[in-house]
Amino acid sequence: MKVLVTGGLGYIGSHTCVELLQNNYEVVVIDNLSNSEVSVITRIETITHKKIIFYNGDLSNKSDIQQVFQQNEIDAVLHFAASKSVNESLKKPLKYYKNNISNMINLLEAMMEFNAKKFIFSSSAAVYGSTAQQPISELATTKAMNPYGETKVIGEDLLNDLYASDSEWSIVVLRYFNPIGAHESGLIGEHPNGTPNNLMPLITQVASKKRSLLYVFGNDYNTIDGTGVRDYIHVVDLAKGHVSAVQKLFSTHGLHTYNLGTGEGYSVLEIINTFEKVNNVNIHYEIVDRRAGDPAVCFANPAKAKEELDWSAERTLEDMCRDSWRWEKNLENRILTNKN
Ligand code: NAD
Ligand code: UD1
Repeated sequence: MKVLVTGGLGYIGSHTCVELLQNNYEVVVIDNLSNSEVSVITRIETITHKKIIFYNGDLSNKSDIQQVFQQNEIDAVLHFAASKSVNESLKKPLKYYKNNISNMINLLEAMMEFNAKKFIFSSSAAVYGSTAQQPISELATTKAMNPYGETKVIGEDLLNDLYASDSEWSIVVLRYFNPIGAHESGLIGEHPNGTPNNLMPLITQVASKKRSLLYVFGNDYNTIDGTGVRDYIHVVDLAKGHVSAVQKLFSTHGLHTYNLGTGEGYSVLEIINTFEKVNNVNIHYEIVDRRAGDPAVCFANPAKAKEELDWSAERTLEDMCRDSWRWEKNLENRILTNKN
């Protein structure tokens, strides 16, 4: 089976390539390197002792996509390529609608043309409004809070309409909760461009003294210790969820939507404390005002993925904190020694 992974050199895509290769899929990647490095290819191949076929291409360029389908018989597509910063999406909404919607349409059109109608879509818990009942099931109403989230809602709507128009499509929509951690080899992980917005990259940068302080956004929520609660999921567990989803694509038709989360929520202070304990480091932090738009609590009901994909997350919060820190230290070493 040959699968196309768009954005396969990025954070979640690279971990998914590893799991796909380890499950004997042939992997073709298209990535424009806008948020990743070409050296990720070698690192994926070092982990798996297998090769990927790489195209340095952009989904905005239809001929780049055509070339991939002309040169490979693609059985299924996993679509990770997108822009993903909530903050940036508020400042540059058109960039987000173009990359996350228009370019996805280019991809789907090529798939139609080449009769490759199996598709996995990287959606997000960002599609759930802040008022969703916890734990959140896939049946909760979707209501995005920002342009980034809106592109995921539109992406899902578009896929629903596509399937309604042509039942030969087989589509799995995966709504990720909060991916953190890195591959245990320390070879691949998250490589945020510029200043990160998400909690774990900020924690690891404070631990490595790249930044002096972590701001904890609010300690007056109605939660265990007043700080925000989220469903953090190890990126390797998330990647394994995609292998289960690919298997689902081949065993049924239809459009299926799944939460990929652990079903457990942890507060910001619990994350900081666990990180300090397992890694024996200090995280200097200060409590500040709430961040606008943040819900107090957000965690998944992952029962549907368990039942229909036979998938559930296995890695603990300790694993996530240990692996995130190993990756950060390796990243530092690579930068210091100027190696890839
Ligand atoms: P990432 O930025 O690390 O990876 C995306 C990859 O796609 C990058 O390698 C980038 O170079 C590539 N890319 C972007 N636009 C492209 C284009 N037009 N053509 C070709 N390549 C392009 O992001 P990630 O964290 O791995 O996220 C993957 C997907 O999962 C995205 O769709 C994102 O919205 C979604 N998601 C991520 C999170 C998260 O917290 N990381 C949470 C929920 C959903
Ligand atoms: C954010 C996005 C969400 C996206 C998700 C995964 C917002 C409002 N939401 O979710 O759309 O799907 O990332 O990419 O940006 N925190 C701090 N200090 C910090 C950073 C975060 O206290 O410097 C807290 C937050 O208040 C929150 C928790 O840490 O309680 C997690 O934050 P973050 O990692 O940004 O993820 P989300 O806000 O859940």
